[in-house]
Amino acid sequence: MTKITIAIDGFSSTGKSTIAKQLANALGYVYVDSGAMYRAVTLHAMNKGFISDDHFDVEGLINDLPNLTIFFKFNNKLGIGEVFLNDVNVEGQIRNLEVSRKVSQVAAISEVRVMLVKQQQRMGQFKGVVMDGRDIGTVVFPDAELKLFMTSSAETRAQRRYDELIASGDDVEFKDILENVVSRDHIDSTREDSPLVKAEDAIEIDNSHLTKTEQFDQVLEMAYKIINHIE
Ligand code: CDP
Repeated sequence: MTKITIAIDGFSSTGKSTIAKQLANALGYVYVDSGAMYRAVTLHAMNKGFISDDHFDVEGLINDLPNLTIFFKFNNKLGIGEVFLNDVNVEGQIRNLEVSRKVSQVAAISEVRVMLVKQQQRMGQFKGVVMDGRDIGTVVFPDAELKLFMTSSAETRAQRRYDELIASGDDVEFKDILENVVSRDHIDSTREDSPLVKAEDAIEIDNSHLTKTEQFDQVLEMAYKIINHIE
């Protein structure tokens, strides 16, 4: 079967990774969580003291980028790709609120984006990939055959993220999560380099009122239509 590239972009916590994983499973494609890469760079910047609550040594981080390797390794037991930072599995450390509070500042640095986008394009060079993020349909894979742009209300998104964090044992407050979602959306949409915008040819999906199954059925049908049309 012909393989295509599927790009999924959208605001924070819109369920991009859920739909991306479902699609990758159904089609036998590789799923790449590009946000995990920006989060891993952010964790590195925090560990090395380049960024804290009240300072950000941008030059220091940029100069240190050559010492940084990020890759995914598939965990057969969990059925997901886990992100490694300089050979250490950091999957369990990158999704917390501390990293979420700093990641959009790190992701606004062009040097960081150039490095990660190159790597993302390599991962998708043979197609058969579903990648989610903010600039996948606009910058990373502008020729992707299927582009989705996910939206839903900030409250719905914050509630989803709050439930996930609570379920994973994090002690967080709803208002802090909502504030983070809104603030990241603002920084991501207004940054100079690769701002979050809907690609002209992306299909917008507002999933505020869709169940995961309804949404998945819709999107899988779209993917098959394109694949069958190409063959
Ligand atoms: O899971 P969630 O939607 O909350 O975010 P994520 O996909 O893990 O991405 C975390 C952050 O990384 C975003 O808020 C962006 O600042 C940045 N990012 C980006 O700039 N470009 C991407 N392709 C993916 C993420």
